[in-house]
Amino acid sequence: MNITIFGSGYVGLVTAVCFADVGNDVLCVDVDAAKVAKLQRGESPIYEPGLTELLQSNVNEGRLRFTTSAEEGARHSLYQFIAVGTPPAEDGSADMQYVLAVAKSIGQYMDGYRVIVSKSTVPVGTADRVAEAIAAELATRGATHEFDVVSNPEFLKEGAAIADFTKPDRIIVGSSSERATNHMQQLYVPFNRNHDRVVVMDVRSSEMTKYAANAMLATKISFMNEMANLAEKLGADIERVRVGIGSDPRIGYQFIYPGCGYGGSCFPKDVKALIRMADEVGFKAKVLQGVEDVNDRQKTVLFDKIKAHFGNVSGMTFALWGLAFKPRTDDMREAPSRVLMEALWAAGAKVRAYDPVAMHETAKIYGARDDLYLAKSPEDAAQGADAMVLVTEWRVFQSPNFATLAKLLNKPVIFDGRNQYDPQHAKRAGFSYYSVGRASV
Ligand SMILES: NC(=O)c1ccc[n+]([C@@H]2O[C@H](COP(=O)([O-])OP(=O)(O)OC[C@H]3O[C@@H](n4cnc5c(N)ncnc54)[C@H](O)[C@@H]3O)[C@@H](O)[C@H]2O)c1
Repeated sequence: MNITIFGSGYVGLVTAVCFADVGNDVLCVDVDAAKVAKLQRGESPIYEPGLTELLQSNVNEGRLRFTTSAEEGARHSLYQFIAVGTPPAEDGSADMQYVLAVAKSIGQYMDGYRVIVSKSTVPVGTADRVAEAIAAELATRGATHEFDVVSNPEFLKEGAAIADFTKPDRIIVGSSSERATNHMQQLYVPFNRNHDRVVVMDVRSSEMTKYAANAMLATKISFMNEMANLAEKLGADIERVRVGIGSDPRIGYQFIYPGCGYGGSCFPKDVKALIRMADEVGFKAKVLQGVEDVNDRQKTVLFDKIKAHFGNVSGMTFALWGLAFKPRTDDMREAPSRVLMEALWAAGAKVRAYDPVAMHETAKIYGARDDLYLAKSPEDAAQGADAMVLVTEWRVFQSPNFATLAKLLNKPVIFDGRNQYDPQHAKRAGFSYYSVGRASV
């Protein structure tokens, strides 16, 4: 099948390589000419495990192409995927300008029936706006081509995106047209062999499903962070509490890890956008507001602990281990590391930072500055620093040599934002050790 995908970011590119890899002819359209040139050479602009291999093999075998031409994209195929960004606007609502720009281009150039598939996370009711934008363009040029707009939200996790796409828990199809639903079912057959994962529903429920899923996951995290902060005050150990509650199958062990706040391109913006959607219909989303407030506060927890330990940090240096918002990605959007670094800089401290893959992104965001040293290894970051702060739980940080670390640091102090270490082990190695929701040692 021929497929067009607008937007070659985390979602668009993964969707493209996975569809191409099962034999489809995929054309990706992106407005970023530099990104398109890179992709044409088989180079991935993002870090995602397994992505580069699939990109190169499918480009080499001619099933995957990249262009900046929306016209070529709109003419290429029946399926027109929209996978462009929906970042937060000033008021927290999702900024729809990129989605609507794509809709406009499709309306301008389509030359037959089209199924327009929204993979971007879009506010409830967006499919109607996309349909209006396309209809307006068709009317302007006096064309009468038929089309259907379908919602097909994406649930991939960065860091495990290829596996999530090829072995999905569910494939949500929001559609009011039988014709479009049949086309969608056909398209997903290769990812649906084991059992039928396609869940068909109305468009608005599908659009809302994506927000509700992310809001639920963000709620689990903020809930655990609230419990962790409380555990510290009450003299309990949140890691014991976590195991204690996770054993209840109604709660489960997944996604109940306390830490220094959630980040990334999805949870923060989707929770905000859902709060705005509620506002617009005169409904106060109290749980969601709480989830967001707790997360904002949690992102300052590490800095607060650093200040409580050292007092004035002006002139001090901190080693940061982990910069990406989570392991196995280079995505720095809304990363807790950014809140921490910016607080340290504002207080006159310096940062020596290391991340296995997000160094390039960090350099892009902050440029060259005297108070940021981009280290070559975890050890290089620790060299001469006054404390080590673990921000992202990459595997490579999980079992450090504490004796070596103690020698590298000026002062043997660890602030562990992800509860990666055993407090007693850290203590025996001579460290002052702070974590989240457990007594400091
Ligand atoms: N990143 C994730 O883990 C994830 C997961 C599920 C859903 N989503 C949702 O998917 C959508 C895309 O997210 P992302 O992280 O891939 O975004 P991204 O910022 O990585 O990529 C968006 C791409 O769209 C391109 N673009 C912008 N306007 C365009 C246009 N008019 N025509 C063609 N291309 C255009 C940009 O140049 C960019 O390459 C968002 O709505 C997001 O909420 C993201």
